[in-house]
Amino acid sequence: MLRSALIAASRSAGCRTAVERTPLLRPIVDRFVAGSDVDSALRVASQLAVDRMVTLDHLGEDTLDRAQAEQTVEAYRTVLARLAREGLGERAEVSVKLSALGQALPVDGDKIALENTRRICEAAAAAGTTVTVDMEDHTTTDSTLSIVRALRADFPGTGTVLQAYLKRTEADCADFAGAGSRIRLCKGAYDEPASVAYRDRSEVDASYVRCLRVLMNGDGYPMVATHDTRLIEIAEHLAAGRKRDSYEFQMLYGVRPQVQDELAARGLRMRVYVPYGTEWYPYFMRRLGERPANVGFFLQALVRR
Ligand code: FDA
Repeated sequence: MLRSALIAASRSAGCRTAVERTPLLRPIVDRFVAGSDVDSALRVASQLAVDRMVTLDHLGEDTLDRAQAEQTVEAYRTVLARLAREGLGERAEVSVKLSALGQALPVDGDKIALENTRRICEAAAAAGTTVTVDMEDHTTTDSTLSIVRALRADFPGTGTVLQAYLKRTEADCADFAGAGSRIRLCKGAYDEPASVAYRDRSEVDASYVRCLRVLMNGDGYPMVATHDTRLIEIAEHLAAGRKRDSYEFQMLYGVRPQVQDELAARGLRMRVYVPYGTEWYPYFMRRLGERPANVGFFLQALVRR
């Protein structure tokens, strides 16, 4: 229930103002967000790139303003040019949210998001790297997957995300398990209705394992995005017949850093999702909802302000 409340708050303008005006929260935000500008993101990326890989997320989502979507494209072109200049193209890619690139615009949203993302894919190819398209709430899944299919025709390395909490995902994994596909499998971060999603944790975990099995048995490149050590163990078991460079683990910046260190130290492929930028509020609220202890710190800071 708490998680649902925080996800609802992530879309509330009033809560946003209250949270953004609470300086005591800054240390908690800084734990999950690498900074507000490209320099901070690049600093964190180059530190991590010593023994792991990175995907950079320029924070922002749900835009209904075409000019803002255009600014997001420019922000990605800037960071990709910097990755190339600093020789990080092989270790760092970018993650994008289609709702920041125009998908939710009332007219031609899908077409605009496709063209905007295509321009980011062009910049990524020039920088020697790839793009992964994040997945948002279930109302966007079909649109996102069809945009990713269109992008893959020209940029075959384009990856996307499938969410184990959705009942449709096992079938989507089968569709995307072919050679060349890059699928990040996560549990799912939005508050979805029982008509489309498993709501019970154990059902989500069971679905995650079924989906993982499909991806690991396929010819694509599975990206195992979870901090759940039980699922990580199962993933290692299912990957037993695979080469070590044919799949990777992914975790969020600031979450379970010791587990990230351990996987990297064992020579497994580990990628960290590093968000940066000023639009941190919705991302931050979703992260709070994932662990009750985070909410305790958050409430203490709000009460003390
Ligand atoms: P679970 O929530 O069960 O957590 C397992 C354990 O990890 C917890 O017990 C806790 O110890 C620790 N933990 C997890 N989250 C924490 C947090 N925020 N703070 C502190 N500890 C925490 N979702 C989505 O809908 N679309 C997307 O595109 C993506 N992209 C994405 C990329 C990457 C690289 C990751 C790792 C995750 C995503 N997600 C996502 C988020 C994902 O769907 C999910 O909400 C979170 O990863 C939490 O789920 P876990 O699998 O970690 O399990």
